[in-house]
Amino acid sequence: MSNVSIRLDPAATVAPVHRRLFGSFVEHLGRCVYTGLFEPDHPDATPEGFRSDVLDLVKELGVTTVRYPGGNFVSGYRWEDGVGPRAQRPARLDLAWHCTEPNTFGTDEFMAWARLAGVEPMMAVNLGTRGIASALALLEYCNIRGGTERSDARARNASAEPYDVRMWCLGNEMDGPWQIGAMTAHEYGRLASRTAKAMRMLDPGLELVACGSSGSSMPTFGAWEREVLTQAYDDVDYLSAHAYYGEDAGDLASFLASAVDMDYFIDTVAATADQVRAERHSDKVINISFDEWNVWYQNRPESETPRGDDWPVGPRLGEDQYSVADAVVIGDLLITLLRHADRVHAACQAQLVNFIAPIMTEPGGAAWRQTAFHPFALTARHAVGDVLRLSLDAPKIDTAKYGAVDLCDAVATRDEASGDIALFVVNRAIDTPTEVSVDLAACGALSVTEACVLTHADYRWVATLADSTSAGPHPLATRLDEATCTFQLPPVSWAMVRLSAA
Ligand code: AHR
Repeated sequence: MSNVSIRLDPAATVAPVHRRLFGSFVEHLGRCVYTGLFEPDHPDATPEGFRSDVLDLVKELGVTTVRYPGGNFVSGYRWEDGVGPRAQRPARLDLAWHCTEPNTFGTDEFMAWARLAGVEPMMAVNLGTRGIASALALLEYCNIRGGTERSDARARNASAEPYDVRMWCLGNEMDGPWQIGAMTAHEYGRLASRTAKAMRMLDPGLELVACGSSGSSMPTFGAWEREVLTQAYDDVDYLSAHAYYGEDAGDLASFLASAVDMDYFIDTVAATADQVRAERHSDKVINISFDEWNVWYQNRPESETPRGDDWPVGPRLGEDQYSVADAVVIGDLLITLLRHADRVHAACQAQLVNFIAPIMTEPGGAAWRQTAFHPFALTARHAVGDVLRLSLDAPKIDTAKYGAVDLCDAVATRDEASGDIALFVVNRAIDTPTEVSVDLAACGALSVTEACVLTHADYRWVATLADSTSAGPHPLATRLDEATCTFQLPPVSWAMVRLSAA
């Protein structure tokens, strides 16, 4: 058995836990919207046509912010097609995912759904096939109280009150050759700057996100960020980052260490942004919106888009079933996001329902939780207050992709008012348990209020509609002697330990 020691010091804080770190993403993709959020014929549908079982699970998941409507979808989307009387809304081809978009769910439905779910909407504008004029028109529709053509249209269609959307993404993955209207960094940086300036003329208080790289392995990674910020530094607040991870056959060790890549990604983007800042002698700090992250098996048949004459509405696409190992990696990615709370101020797990999602549904049937649901829900609920800069002493393990990495990863948060601490830990060992001891000497008298672990004798176990509970988090035995808390983590596991002032 290996030994890992962690030391917590309440005086060493990274930054407050930004609630927007627990964001998610709803794209018109697969069955995320249609038969996911929205299914008017479902027996549990609300009067607006939303699945109430999904709304309940979204609340339990603790999602704070939801990005909409894409993703690749947004780069071909005409938002006007999705508002107004439903009978008059056109069906359109969605070129990004080779589907038919019926437009029976659009901006007003999303805003109504977000209000019921208790989440903050975060919108993306189309800078692929459209541009400044359409971004301004959508902003007017959403944020102007009334007295103009579009704000009055919103009042007629759905809501007298403006939606007051604060956070806006300026396009999506414009560095990706797959993106409709993909651009060079210079072209995109200029467009992002012009669009941001115009949007702020309409609503100066917006928080604007420029597209960063769609992955750390993009050939333009780094150079893209630098050029986009050189063009748009003064006009935007955040750079986006997107990352998807999956296990390559036979390389579980690297997969379990995926958070190492996310660490590198965040550190590199922050350093690049700071370099541009230094060149400009600017006081302004650009932060990161990690607005797409997850485990995604992109090469599996589940993610193969339709072809030829087949343009279905809301097909089963990307319905990855998450194993316990996948959930452990997802828990570790959340650890990384929290550890970087000084620079990552928002993050969205992609996506919320059915498409690479923690929540699954059957049309006309039940909604259920994937394994991936649990680390997100527990972290969102219990990571409160400030992120602590903990010290971790762990043996190294070898990985093919990332070299020698720590056997365990961990982060802790502390609520100043109550003194409550939450510790999140991952054991990346494949075969052996790890003994973790946590030095709490600097934290005052504490007692353990809850400790749980997500693990399974078969780490490839996946939840299904028939059995979604066998591998939920279960109690973890801990020992608290003097100021040291110890516990044993099984291989391939994610755990949470909560401590309160004794
Ligand atoms: O989340 C699925 C897709 O992944 C999004 O549409 C796109 O932005 C990314 O490549």
